Amino acid sequence: MNNALITGGTDGIGKASAKELVKLGYNVIIIGNTEEKGKAAVDEIKQAMPEGHIQFWKADLSLISEVLRISKLFLSRFRHLDVLILCAFQMQPKLKITSEGFEKTFALYYLSRFALIQYLDSAIGIKGETRIIDFATPGQNYGEIDFSDITMEKNYSAMNALKRGSFCNDLMAVEYSKRASSGQVTFILVWPGTVRTGVINPYPQPLKSILKLYMWLFGTSPEEIGKISAYYVTDKSLANNRLKIFYRKKEIKLGTSRLDSNLAQKLWEKSLQLIHEAQTN
Ligand SMILES: NC(=O)c1ccc[n+]([C@@H]2O[C@H](COP(=O)([O-])OP(=O)(O)OC[C@H]3O[C@@H](n4cnc5c(N)ncnc54)[C@H](OP(=O)(O)O)[C@@H]3O)[C@@H](O)[C@H]2O)c1
Repeated sequence: MNNALITGGTDGIGKASAKELVKLGYNVIIIGNTEEKGKAAVDEIKQAMPEGHIQFWKADLSLISEVLRISKLFLSRFRHLDVLILCAFQMQPKLKITSEGFEKTFALYYLSRFALIQYLDSAIGIKGETRIIDFATPGQNYGEIDFSDITMEKNYSAMNALKRGSFCNDLMAVEYSKRASSGQVTFILVWPGTVRTGVINPYPQPLKSILKLYMWLFGTSPEEIGKISAYYVTDKSLANNRLKIFYRKKEIKLGTSRLDSNLAQKLWEKSLQLIHEAQTN
């Protein structure tokens, strides 16, 4: 049986993707940070597909120690990872520093994704090609990454943190696709567009209601994006590609600044150092 791990699989795009993968016969593990949401998601999917294979693991993925715990748990139970869908995310209207000392958007939206891929490396590409599907917002206009202010204390705003996290995901995709062995993994970086999920819930009113209205008017349903996830997982034409970037089903390209290999390499090395420090502190 093929295994799929979905971070942020208890809600929104992640949950909709989980449903589709269970339908396709995958053994699906969903990760989220709220026990009740996880149980409810499993119940919902099991009710629709009683024979389906789905389980929930609770973890706060904004902590590298938790990413490591989940990775070890996965590796102790399964030999191969066939699909990894990265959806765990939470907007942070105010600057939050995790107990490991990272700005929370950077930690959850970028560093945990980087760390998960590192820690699960021995299960990637084992049974054939692994597909990594990274839901983010590619091509955001973000200037320089200030490596001397990773905690963003100088210029924090929710939007800056979101843009920096998106840029880091772009650079990770570029660097990872260079480093992975050919035919072993296809990295699919996705901008899903506006999707009607609870992603805007942490915003204060009246901004939250305005964003909600915008989502209802112009957004698409998470179910529709879940079906597109199934396409990323199954479409044969995507096989043996190191990197594919999509807006839904339309292929897009990153600007040349995104492909700056020096910066991508620098971020990669810095990230390795940060996760190493988080483990040893
Ligand atoms: N929705 C959009 O319009 C949109 C647009 C562009 C990009 N995207 C990207 O698509 C991805 C999915 O977004 P979405 O709209 O589906 O979000 P969502 O509905 O808010 O779902 C977020 C998921 O992340 C989990 N999560 C949050 N904090 C966590 C933590 N500390 N540890 C583990 N899991 C955590 C949530 O579970 P718990 O609440 O249980 O922790 C939930 O399952 C994100 O990467 C986002 O950047 C979305």
